[in-house]
Amino acid sequence: MTKKTAVITGAGQGLGRAMAMRLAADGFHVVCVDVNSDAAAETARMVGGEPHVCDISNRDAVHDLGAKVTACDVLVNNAGIWSFESLLESTEEQAERVIHVNVLGTMWCTQAFVPHMRRAGGGSIINVSSAAAWTQSPGIGVYPATKTAVESLTKTFALELGPDNIRVNAIGPGLIVSDGTAANYEGNRMNERAQGVPMRRVGSPVDIANVVSFLAGPDSSYVSGQVMYVDGGISAGTQKR
Ligand SMILES: NC(=O)c1ccc[n+]([C@@H]2O[C@H](COP(=O)([O-])OP(=O)(O)OC[C@H]3O[C@@H](n4cnc5c(N)ncnc54)[C@H](O)[C@@H]3O)[C@@H](O)[C@H]2O)c1
Repeated sequence: MTKKTAVITGAGQGLGRAMAMRLAADGFHVVCVDVNSDAAAETARMVGGEPHVCDISNRDAVHDLGAKVTACDVLVNNAGIWSFESLLESTEEQAERVIHVNVLGTMWCTQAFVPHMRRAGGGSIINVSSAAAWTQSPGIGVYPATKTAVESLTKTFALELGPDNIRVNAIGPGLIVSDGTAANYEGNRMNERAQGVPMRRVGSPVDIANVVSFLAGPDSSYVSGQVMYVDGGISAGTQKR
């Protein structure tokens, strides 16, 4: 039987690499997309997949990628960036870059890979939002707003693509120790940060990959337009009285 294909953006490290490993273990052929060519190649080597270098914020490059990749049954729009500055002081360059990658990148990749899913008779798209979409904290510029937008895109695409048997959902990770966030947990900050989580631990990329596996597979066959927070309870509300 031919393997199904999963395309993962930002697969070169962090959550994306863990997703690639899990979906490969689930039996998918994994297309590892990253702006960093060495990282994409390394993940592809680890999972026996296919590396592709692409900046997802570049619509033409993404559409070229869509033409090069022959199949896509699952698309994980995982690549995302953030920058630490107050919203008030965010420069045009900082704000635009984060919006272009997180919001427009998600749109361009969806546009590029939906035709493959239509040809195959269906598919599953998983967008990576963040608990920060609704549980705001100051000092990360437009990042939370971009993740709120990703959740809105998720619902609109779910409505538009449902008739094609394409499901569209989002995952909202909480505090996850990844390559990109490791510096936030140095010294005893790991314990400090864990105290802010109802479950009293920060998460690992595997916690996220497990839920990607569920949303990619047949057990979620009637789930669409949903956002699932994988955050140890952070998004449930405040713990303060
Ligand atoms: N780690 C967390 O705590 C956390 C929490 C909430 C949400 N998220 C979201 O999860 C996703 C992955 O986060 P992570 O912690 O693994 O990050 P990371 O920085 O460890 O990895 C991100 C990967 O995306 C790639 N990338 C960045 N810009 C790209 C672009 N324009 N085109 C293609 N690839 C690009 C990077 O090269 C890198 O390999 C992001 O969308 C992030 O917002 C992470």
